[in-house]
Amino acid sequence: MKLLQIDSSISGAQSVSRRLSASIVTRFKDSLPGLVVSYRDLAAEPVPHQSPATRFAKLKSLYEAGALVGEVGEMVAAAMQSGAQVDASAQREVAATNGALNEFLAADIVVIGAPMYNFGIPSQLKAWIDCLAAPGKTFSYTTAGVEGLAGSKKVIVASARGGFYAASSPMASMDHQETFLTSFFGFIGIANITFVRAEGVNTGPEQRQRAVESALAEITLLKAA
Ligand SMILES: Cc1cc2nc3c(=O)[nH]c(=O)nc-3n(C[C@H](O)[C@H](O)[C@H](O)COP(=O)(O)O)c2cc1C
Repeated sequence: MKLLQIDSSISGAQSVSRRLSASIVTRFKDSLPGLVVSYRDLAAEPVPHQSPATRFAKLKSLYEAGALVGEVGEMVAAAMQSGAQVDASAQREVAATNGALNEFLAADIVVIGAPMYNFGIPSQLKAWIDCLAAPGKTFSYTTAGVEGLAGSKKVIVASARGGFYAASSPMASMDHQETFLTSFFGFIGIANITFVRAEGVNTGPEQRQRAVESALAEITLLKAA
């Protein structure tokens, strides 16, 4: 079995989400002998953002594989005919994007350290998620609608937030962190998503300690299956 651990906090050793994601991984290592763990620190080594050059490179490879028809296919063919090139830096960026996607596809369990930044997720984590949104690999559009292709995976999110966003909180509608992650992974077919949450960590040291201890206690009850 393979587990992929992702961290994205910029707060280093002070990070709550990093502490929780590490604890989740330890829990799974203890309960799943032989578990193979790979790790990506998006704050230390961000994946590239999508760009016009990487978009063209991806469309070109889809076109060459015969997987791109219609208007977009014609646009790519015209650009190629007029000499548009995929330069070395775009090739490197596409390789990095595909590397992140393949690592995700290979994993059975994905543990994501996801702080709330400005009501959403860190931009480094969003750039990684952009790598996963791959037609034909993680989702496809059919005449019946969207089909998620990554449904066999389990995702556990270590969520940390300065304030409170539970349904009963006046701030609930400003949560675009957990709601976004639920929507995205649902879109690619993953219904098995669990949030381990430390809330209100910036409202005072006592609440921070309480929130972290409560999340760590929850982690001891996590089931691998
Ligand atoms: C850049 C930045 C933006 C933040 N934005 C929010 C926010 O919108 N809402 C909130 O409740 N807390 C916010 N916080 C507080 C973090 O969610 C909190 O510190 C949490 O512990 C971050 O996770 P980490 O400790 O793993 O870095 C922000 C913190 C930073 C550094």
